Amino acid sequence: MVLVVGGAGYVGSHVCHALRAASEPHLVLDNLEKGHRQAVEGSPLVVGDIRDPNTVKRVLAEHMPDTVMHFAACIEVGESVRDPAKYYWNNLYGVLVLLEAMREASVERFVFSSTAAVFGEPHYVPIDENHPTCPTSPYGDTKLAVERMLRAFDVAYGIRSVALRYFNASGAQPGANIGEDHDPETHLIPRAILAALGRVPPLVVFGTDYDTPDGTCVRDYVHVSDLARAHLLALAHLRADGPSRAFNLGGGEGRSVREVIESVERVSGRKVPHSFGDRRPGDPARLVASSKLIQSELGWRPRFVDIDEIVSHAWVWHSAHPEGYRS
Ligand code: UFG
Repeated sequence: MVLVVGGAGYVGSHVCHALRAASEPHLVLDNLEKGHRQAVEGSPLVVGDIRDPNTVKRVLAEHMPDTVMHFAACIEVGESVRDPAKYYWNNLYGVLVLLEAMREASVERFVFSSTAAVFGEPHYVPIDENHPTCPTSPYGDTKLAVERMLRAFDVAYGIRSVALRYFNASGAQPGANIGEDHDPETHLIPRAILAALGRVPPLVVFGTDYDTPDGTCVRDYVHVSDLARAHLLALAHLRADGPSRAFNLGGGEGRSVREVIESVERVSGRKVPHSFGDRRPGDPARLVASSKLIQSELGWRPRFVDIDEIVSHAWVWHSAHPEGYRS
């Protein structure tokens, strides 16, 4: 049995979908602050906060999971600069409470949602696992701090973990009625689609003078269902007594902001109203993952690498749910 903490969010709900498809018993623990009850219909849900030790201890004692997966993090780089305390409380203290309760309950497997933000400004691309980690935001700092905590907890207490460093999670599981619904929505693909639908003001392209082929930032968009499959492989790896690992996870190709806009226009048959603005502080020019390590060690392969296919799955979700789960 897997405890999916933060399972009602975007990536977590896709992992729950994959766990259901694999008939893997699981339970979601989510405070529903950002998550959506409808995103985990079909999975048992306990509403509660990981920062409350009593809740976490009770859930572990009652359900005795063999593995915990953690998705319950705040994820906005800009917000983390404005309100770092929120990030340290939730992303770091929350995980410490969870790991302490796991230690007490002898739960020894942990799958952690990490991020490309642990690397900061890249020295080279594609970014592999040997790339130095030097976050440039409190968000990235909290994720790297947890990765370090996990290494120490393995050595000292035998809790083994897989940290999956997502690059740009995107798309939606076709036919599953789940998708991306953040409030506020800051990510490029949903914002471009919602702008095309006239649901948000025209998109602002953040910077056109980067050292990239078309001057706009290049990112590595990885399909959320491919991310979900990586979690199931991580689970199998830990259950087979595999050692603790941190893996980078990207789709393998860099796409510029302009290319994403063109893709949304092709897929939707609509114009994406947009203007060109200043750079967003803290945005590196290029972030592209090397996912070779997880490919060779866990046999993971992204199924969806074509940007039009990723965008088309996002389009299906957003056009059917222009107000997200409220629609
Ligand atoms: N962008 C725009 N206009 C927008 C939104 C985004 O031009 O309205 C651009 C950004 O400047 C960036 C690209 O589109 O170049 C992608 O931006 P996103 O906000 O969608 O994603 P990020 O690459 O900034 O963030 C992702 C994850 C974070 C993670 C980060 C690592 O969502 O959780 O990568 O740096 F921290």
